[in-house]
Amino acid sequence: MTYKVLVSDPLADEGIEILRGFCEVDINTGLSEDELIKIIGDYDGLLVRSGTEVTANVIEAAAKLKFIGRAGAGVDNIDTNAATQRGIIVANAPAGNTLAACEHTLAMMASLARKIPQATASVKRGEWKRSAFMGVELNEKTLGIVGFGRIGQELARRAIALDMKVVAYDPYINEERAKELGVEVMTLDQLFPVADFITVHTPLIKETKHLINKKSIAVMKDGVRIINCARGGIINESDLYDAIVAGKVAGAALDVYENEPPKDSKIITLDEVITTPHLGASTVEAQLNVAVSVAKQCIEVLKGGSAKFV
Ligand code: NAD
Ligand code: MLT
Repeated sequence: MTYKVLVSDPLADEGIEILRGFCEVDINTGLSEDELIKIIGDYDGLLVRSGTEVTANVIEAAAKLKFIGRAGAGVDNIDTNAATQRGIIVANAPAGNTLAACEHTLAMMASLARKIPQATASVKRGEWKRSAFMGVELNEKTLGIVGFGRIGQELARRAIALDMKVVAYDPYINEERAKELGVEVMTLDQLFPVADFITVHTPLIKETKHLINKKSIAVMKDGVRIINCARGGIINESDLYDAIVAGKVAGAALDVYENEPPKDSKIITLDEVITTPHLGASTVEAQLNVAVSVAKQCIEVLKGGSAKFV
């Protein structure tokens, strides 16, 4: 029997080659929900990144589907309940892009502290405004990490190497690991007022939706800088906008947004806000890792086995 797999977001060639050694593969990206619904019935497997919304309607139309693979960590673009009800296995590749996302967060934090994107744009406009881009050092600043999982922990290690003091909150924190790394475990109420930089590394779930909001910002240090390379929606963008305009928050670095792309978003218009288009996992190394991981899991499931990460 020949299986058919649809790849509906860009996936590294190495993953496609592995799949082609086992089954037929169609690459068809940028599909609307309606377009996906029309064709999904032909496929046994579906591989996505964050661009495809695998809704309950898509799953309803997926008569033969046995496997949905997310080449990355977050499965918030897949209706996992609907998939489970239909017996479809959903798997991700959670570790393959950890270092990429961690390094992107570090790069964003340093760029935010030194206003590098703003200064770059200014020089390219032909300006030479050295005093306009006064920055702050990371050295001896307190970094508050909210969500101490894979990315949070890797980031902590690197921030400590930069002589930052690192504090962290996670309801399921591994205290032993935090101690080993030299990270002080705190409650959110303790972390918000002491951190100079706050970075979120949680999934987007009910408990983390708008975790950074008007109320939490009010108790933060004046001049705090906030980074989100996890998921749009963990920060209430409208509240963050108001806090930056009011001068309470000195700046923010955003890789992810409540709506992607963030069309008509006020927050991205602010000079104090630096932005990237959901690039956390966009390294050659990470894309190879996640593509190979989901391709192998897809084959395993189509052969009747089970996936490693569900
Ligand atoms: P992880 O599962 O290893 O860690 C997430 C941590 O968040 C866990 O330790 C969990 O206990 C903690 N958590 C859960 N609820 C919490 C709460 N209410 N408050 C604080 N912490 C809470 O995940 P990860 O691989 O470290 O990824 C973190 C986030 O980064 C995810 O949202 C993932 O989708 C996202 N991500 C983004 C990119 C990107 O391209 N920007 C790339 C990779 C991962
Ligand atoms: C993830 O959750 O892994 C990231 O958002 C990266 C991606 O979009 O692939």
